[in-house]
Amino acid sequence: MSVLTVLTYPDPFLRRSMAPVADFDDEVRRIIADMTETMYAEPGVGLAATQVSIDQRIIVYDVSGADAPRQPQALVNPQIVVAEGKQLSENEGCLSVPDFRADVPRAWRVEVTGINQDGQSVRIDAEGFPAIVLQHEIDHLNGILFIDRISRLKRELYKRRVHKQLKQSA
Ligand code: NI
Repeated sequence: MSVLTVLTYPDPFLRRSMAPVADFDDEVRRIIADMTETMYAEPGVGLAATQVSIDQRIIVYDVSGADAPRQPQALVNPQIVVAEGKQLSENEGCLSVPDFRADVPRAWRVEVTGINQDGQSVRIDAEGFPAIVLQHEIDHLNGILFIDRISRLKRELYKRRVHKQLKQSA
């Protein structure tokens, strides 16, 4: 297994829509293992293939909490089939959007279909925090970042800050 490099905004790859996985093979298992290792190394509660420059619809996540035993989960070709209710995700962050957090409107509950790390078709019913993580990671597969879901004013403040930092380091 290896720790992969996580892309950060404004890398254009983060804006791309990832391709569906055709076969659940050893290559997919290896990607899941590397992504899981990368997620724990960062550390983060979730990671999408987009963030590590892999053009495949794969996400990994662990919502067990910092003090609980690790419970790594993976979903291949995840799809939100039901989204209902509303919640405001407080201080949502992202490994690809460093040093910035914001409250993000999210659905309270989602049902997600996909293939898990064992290659089995699953339908996951999540609400509250796990539902936020699933929505956030699946957004990544469609080229969407959480800053796209906050107010324009907050987003522009963040973008201006990043561009200023990039200019200074250039
Ligand atoms: Ni993220």
